[in-house]
Amino acid sequence: MTAPTGYSRTQIALHWVAFGLIAAQYLFKDAISNAWDQIKLGVEAGFDPLVLAHVAGGALVLLFALWRLALRARRGVPVAIESTRIQGILAKLTHVGLYALMILMPVSGAVAWFGGVQLAAQGHNIMKVILLALIALHIVGALYHQFVLRDGTLARMRRAQG
Ligand code: HEM
Ligand code: HEM
Repeated sequence: MTAPTGYSRTQIALHWVAFGLIAAQYLFKDAISNAWDQIKLGVEAGFDPLVLAHVAGGALVLLFALWRLALRARRGVPVAIESTRIQGILAKLTHVGLYALMILMPVSGAVAWFGGVQLAAQGHNIMKVILLALIALHIVGALYHQFVLRDGTLARMRRAQG
């Protein structure tokens, strides 16, 4: 399979929608955190739309990550723009980690929420920090490409091609 010259419209849309959904998971996390605290105390948590949004938003992140992986396998992605070998490896590891956590975060959250498994909630809490760190690294990388290397990497995630 020859690599396409750019990401498709669907790949780009899925990237940015997932970004928005993940940002919302962090910004509006208090509702599910409080509900979980109440459940741990044995109190029945009342209906809260923000709790539902956390569960549904997380499920969509999982769905979109699997969709993106399927597109990656079927259609492919453009060849990576690497300034050095180390930078290329770092970018690859970051992408693998981001995909892994877009799957593991919803799965651990669901096991905690629907299965009442405290250990899964602990894993969810540890992974939320790792995911945030990877996102920060990924954004620094994107800005480095944009403003230091000026190699058009960011433009590839804005305009569809191939
Ligand atoms: C990419 C998807 C997800 C992200 C980024 C995410 C992120 C977060 C964050 C930042 C918190 C706050 C933890 C804290 O500081 O107190 C949290 C808590 C929680 N999330 Fe998620 N979440 C995701 C998906 C889900 C899903 C799909 C479910 C359930 C079906 C879920 C269930 C929970 C539960 C039960 C808590 C409370 C855990 C605790 O406070 O110990 N999450 N999540
Ligand atoms: C929740 C936040 C984010 C996640 C989980 C995420 C995830 C990913 C993943 C997994 C890829 C690899 C796509 C593939 O080749 O299959 C990617 C590519 C990319 N992301 Fe993000 N991303 C996030 C936020 C951002 C932000 C805020 C920016 C810009 C500042 C950005 C810029 C890019 C660019 C430019 C690429 C293309 C890299 C290339 O062409 O080699 N991402 N992102």
